[in-house]
Order: sequence, then C-alpha cells, then structure tokens
Amino acid sequence: MGERVSTMALREVCSSEEIAEGQHKLINHYKGEIGVVRYNGRLVAIRNRCPHAGAQLLLKAVRPTTVAACPHQIELGYQDGVFTCPWHHWEFDLRDGSCLADPRLKLEKFPVQETDGKIVVEIPD
Ligand code: FES
Repeated sequence: MGERVSTMALREVCSSEEIAEGQHKLINHYKGEIGVVRYNGRLVAIRNRCPHAGAQLLLKAVRPTTVAACPHQIELGYQDGVFTCPWHHWEFDLRDGSCLADPRLKLEKFPVQETDGKIVVEIPD
C-alpha cells in the first residue's frame, strides 16, 4: 500500500481590495476555515482555530490587544501583529504564529501571495 503524499494547491481568495487594513476574509477548507488577515499592510493566512481550545479566532473582526500607552491608560491595537483569541484572551503573534504565553503553541499558517490584484493562498489538497 502506497504512502499518501501531501500536496499543496493554490486557491484564489478574493481581489486585493476586498481585504482592507485590519480586516479579514474566511474561506472554507475541508479541514476547517482559513482566514486571510491584512495588518500593517501585510497579509497572513491562518487556520481559523485557536491551538488552545479550538475557538474561532476570526469572528466579525480581528480582536486587538493592549499596546503601550501613557501610564494609567489602556489602548487597543495590533502592535507587532499581536491579536487576541475571543475565548480566553490568549495573545498570538501573526508574524510567526506563536502564542505569547506559551510559544510551543502555534497558529497553523499558510503561504499567501498578492499578485495582479488577487490574493491567493497555498493550502493542502
Ligand atoms: S480557545 Fe483561544 S485562548 Fe482558549
């Protein structure tokens, strides 16, 4: 019996203008949703599932986290691409997918490209 070889396929998500700064778009995949997020002008594609307990990470909006502010003030933002899971508020770094509280937990990421006004994700077949 042969061993199954995992292959990747390119999938067009949408046109570039459909994902504005701080926004995201979800696509369905047989292993679960994949979210494409634009932050700080960059695109990141992640599995829409928290590695802690399985929450949908991307609901209506990408949840910000606290950022450096004046003493006794709290501001929300996406400093360094960090955002918050809606269930238990663990924070994740979109740059490498790591959880700030436990770097052994990682978001599942996928290569994403933006070419000729189209956003394309490379996902498993
Ligand atoms: S499910 Fe995301 S922090 Fe718990």
